[in-house]
Amino acid sequence: MSSTNFSFDTIQSFDDHIELSIPNYVNLRESVLRVATHFIGENALVYDLGCSTGLLLAKVRLIAPESARLVGIDRSDNLLGKSGSQGVTLINDDLTRADFSLESCELVFCLFTLQFLPLAARKTLIEKVHSALKPGAALIIAEKQYVDNGYIQDLFTFSHYDMKLEHFTAEQILDKQLSLRRIMRPQSEEQNLALLKVFGCVTPIWQFLQFKAWLCIK
Ligand SMILES: C[S@@+](CC[C@H](N)C(=O)[O-])C[C@H]1O[C@@H](n2cnc3c(N)ncnc32)[C@H](O)[C@@H]1O
Repeated sequence: MSSTNFSFDTIQSFDDHIELSIPNYVNLRESVLRVATHFIGENALVYDLGCSTGLLLAKVRLIAPESARLVGIDRSDNLLGKSGSQGVTLINDDLTRADFSLESCELVFCLFTLQFLPLAARKTLIEKVHSALKPGAALIIAEKQYVDNGYIQDLFTFSHYDMKLEHFTAEQILDKQLSLRRIMRPQSEEQNLALLKVFGCVTPIWQFLQFKAWLCIK
């Protein structure tokens, strides 16, 4: 599978790619779906920000009441709709647009998307999500992040490469890293938690190496 000049606007088979690139990604998705069921009642509005192909919402559709509205937002036409999701609304929009807004909602997913937004746009988006969520509603967010201890960071990075070598060549892994440096900027856990502190309750729900997900309840 080629990852030369990685771009969301050209990549093929994105769902396969992300499952092979993030360790235990399928387990993360299953864990997130289990937690999500607690927030999706009748007539709930659920967003997925940076939904890529819409696969997560296609899976939510299978467990959500028919009356629930599921809305995925992404700015890549190359990805939107590629999972063939039925009963899901997919919108091409830029999450960093100044007048981007969300309707009052019960649940927002934001999985490995914030790390692709300019640093200055992240706080604004989290604040927009927080104000759109009803009291008791939730944001489920996942990010790749850095740890403070250099030895552990190296250990995580190279354990991740070991896993990727099962599916990609060393050249493909390096090519993707070179492409990502221009578009992806993970932060430390401390920085991510600072962004999320607007929520009353922030609880880790999944972690593998430097990939971590939190449930944030308003
Ligand atoms: C790593 S992918 C996330 C994948 C998906 N959430 C998942 O977990 O499978 C990041 C996504 O964010 C989207 N994205 C990046 N910047 C964006 C922006 N400013 N507005 C909307 N979508 C954006 C990309 O197109 C891409 O689909």
